Formats: sequence, structure tokens, C-alpha cells
Amino acid sequence: MKGKFIVLEGPDRCGKSTQAKLLAKFLQEQGKDVLLTREPGGTPTAEEIRSVVLNPDLKVRPMAELLLYEASRAQHTQERILPALEEGKIVICERYTMSTCAYQGYGRGIDLNQIQTLNHIATLGLVPDVTLVFLMSDKYFVERGEYLFSDRLEKEDVSFRQKMRQGYLELLKMTPNAHLINADQSVEEVQAGVQQWLHHHKIF
Ligand code: TMP
Repeated sequence: MKGKFIVLEGPDRCGKSTQAKLLAKFLQEQGKDVLLTREPGGTPTAEEIRSVVLNPDLKVRPMAELLLYEASRAQHTQERILPALEEGKIVICERYTMSTCAYQGYGRGIDLNQIQTLNHIATLGLVPDVTLVFLMSDKYFVERGEYLFSDRLEKEDVSFRQKMRQGYLELLKMTPNAHLINADQSVEEVQAGVQQWLHHHKIF
């Protein structure tokens, strides 16, 4: 593949959208051809699937949820990501296969082997050149929980998010080319760390 595939991961509100935009802007200023995209979504069909899977008024069983995320991924990978990589673009994607392992695997308790099989089918075997995982420290996570996750969320939601965080730590150990980014720092510090790391590892 001629291009590079950079995936940004982490629990909700870890700052990855801001970092993805800043990184895309930085790379474009360097004259790089960049595709900034996200999952679930990234194409009209996949965005429709996104609106179903994230609709709070619908009941979605865990296995159906898993398959919807994978359906979105299959569409997005074939229609948008693979062609962009073939054209030599740097693809920056908010969330990809690791999210499914963290949320549907560690969060919902679906067998990780099943998820990995479906990930492989949906991606046609495509794996990121690098996965940057943005995590807040545990102390910060607990202290700032109310602010970050709003007081509407119930205790179960916080424990789900804590499972998520633990899941990401486990996944970091078992995923090739995955790197932990300390998301406790300021936006500027985090972005500087991201750029340095990518440069050092010859991603751009
Ligand atoms: P976003 O708000 O970061 O765009 O992601 C939408 C939500 O979907 C977020 O709560 C994480 C969740 N998600 C999964 O549960 N499984 C997946 O495979 C993906 C890509 C996202």
C-alpha cells in the first residue's frame, strides 16, 4: 500500500477528534495529501449505519451492535480507506478495529476471538500502520469523571467506561504498532507528542 494508515483510539472524550483535526491540518501544511475520516461512518452508507447504531431510541442487542459496527467498517474500508491508501494518501481515522475490541469485547463481553475474526473479514485484512491510543490517567479519569461524562450518566456508565479503559490497556500490549499517548496533558502538548512520535517512526 502506497499511503499510510493512522488510527486514533481511546475512550469517549479523550480528545482524539481535536487531535485528529490538528494532525490533519499539520500534515496538509507539510503538503501531504490527507484523508480525515471516522468510524462508525465515513461514507454515506456507513453514516446511515452510524445513525442506527448510535440512536438512543432504538434497542440494539450486543451481537447486532457488533455486526452494525462491522458493516460500517466493511463499507468504509472498501469504499474510502483502501482507495485513498492506494492513491498514496495519509489516512487519519478516528476509531477502527481496536474500538470494537474495547467496547463490544471488554465492554459488552463478546468473545475477543469472534470480534477479531469479524474485524479481519470487514477490513479485508487491512491493519493500521500505527494506532495511537489516547488515555487519561486513572486518577484524572476518576476525578474528572463527572465533568467529562456529565451528571446524566449513571454509575453503570462510569463502570462501563472503566472497563473500556482497562480494555485499551490490555489491547495496547497485544496490538502491533500501537502506542499509548498521555491524554492528561494540554491539547498542544499532546499534539506535539503525536507529531514527534509519528516523525520519529517515519510515518511522514
Ligand atoms: P465517536 O463518538 O467517537 O464517533 O464513536 C461513537 C461511539 O461508538 C463511541 O461511543 C464508541 C462506539 N464504538 C463502538 O462501540 N464500537 C466500534 O467498533 C466503534 C468504531 C465505535
